Amino acid sequence: MDLTTAYLGLKLDSPLMPGASPLSDSLDKVRQLEDAGAAAIVMRSLFEEQITREMTGDICAREAHAESSAEALSYFPRADEFSLGPDEYLDQLRGIVEAVDIPVIGSLNGVTSAGWLDYARQMEMAGADALELNVYYLPIDPAEGSFAVERRTLDLVRAVKSRLHIPVAVKLSPFFSALPHFARELQGAGADGLVLFNRFYQPDIDPVNLEAAPTLHFSDPSELLLRLRFLAIVAPVVRIPLAVSGGVHSGLDAIKAVMAGASVVQVVSALLKKGPAHLRTIRVEMERWMYEHGYESLVADARQHEPRALPRPGRVLARQLHAHPAELAAVAQAECEEARAGAQIFRARCTRCAKPPGGRPLSWAARSWRCEASTAPCGRP
Ligand SMILES: Cc1cc2nc3c(=O)[nH]c(=O)nc-3n(C[C@H](O)[C@H](O)[C@H](O)COP(=O)(O)O)c2cc1C
Repeated sequence: MDLTTAYLGLKLDSPLMPGASPLSDSLDKVRQLEDAGAAAIVMRSLFEEQITREMTGDICAREAHAESSAEALSYFPRADEFSLGPDEYLDQLRGIVEAVDIPVIGSLNGVTSAGWLDYARQMEMAGADALELNVYYLPIDPAEGSFAVERRTLDLVRAVKSRLHIPVAVKLSPFFSALPHFARELQGAGADGLVLFNRFYQPDIDPVNLEAAPTLHFSDPSELLLRLRFLAIVAPVVRIPLAVSGGVHSGLDAIKAVMAGASVVQVVSALLKKGPAHLRTIRVEMERWMYEHGYESLVADARQHEPRALPRPGRVLARQLHAHPAELAAVAQAECEEARAGAQIFRARCTRCAKPPGGRPLSWAARSWRCEASTAPCGRP
């Protein structure tokens, strides 16, 4: 089964990789992830406030940025300790580059286009193959409009790009008001890929002690649905590749994300819960599903006459995913009628292996199959 894909100019053996998280903190874990089939390693983020604090020696810097990067508080709960300072981060990056043969993607989290961005260059010099820019930002200033938030992010992307030769992916939150437009602007600012989405830190309330209670929940597959919808909406309107992050726990989740438009699939919660070897399980599940449904590769090979690549329904799926249920029902009805009136539909299974016949789904709504091999053996081994 051919799972090769391309992302940020990197040719990858599969779309599966651990997302930014503490999974990259130990070289042992990183090697286990490579053994489990990780196509690349995304390191946890180095935060702007870590760098500015180191640069200025200002112990208040963290508090000043607390709202812009509340995520830092959730991932690094101690008030004054990050697990890796800027220098340790670069050392860890060099260590990972030495330890594995797969591409290593550094991650920076910040919001201002200032001197701290020189660290992006240092990551490149330390051997990063690409950089993920995590633009996690909570706009809490009532004087700041959405246009200003977007413009600041675009300035940041331009500033990072001007310092680097390696590709840059931008990891977004789902709360931009006009995401397809903004995605295009990011592409225009030089982004080489987009990651949909980060998860917002959501503190709970402790009603007895009257204080905010820090929480850190792992995701579950229901979080994938938001990503599927926006992958399908954004993928057809940009030329740069998309990564999914959030809610991928199984091979089927990964398949859906690729169908919706993701070139790569980042996994964190499932690996933190089940261990690095779970990445292999996800790959095996993907391969099994593709085999059972007659697909041979993730990406269509234009040289083949009859490529059995996973379909990317693009605009059709986008329309269905963001349609109002009534509209969706009408689309499904229309496509069913079209299918009935059009090509003959065989529901038969292969006479030899009893699997559904080879062929592509005729219609997303009708979920029926056009059998290309009629009821003859499908030719699978
Ligand atoms: C413990 C933990 C630490 C994380 N650290 C980072 C980080 O440093 N930078 C970042 O961009 N995302 C970070 N994330 C977010 C993940 O990369 C990912 O976007 C999110 O967990 C959704 O993916 P999942 O559903 O596979 O967990 C972290 C997530 C967790 C659970």
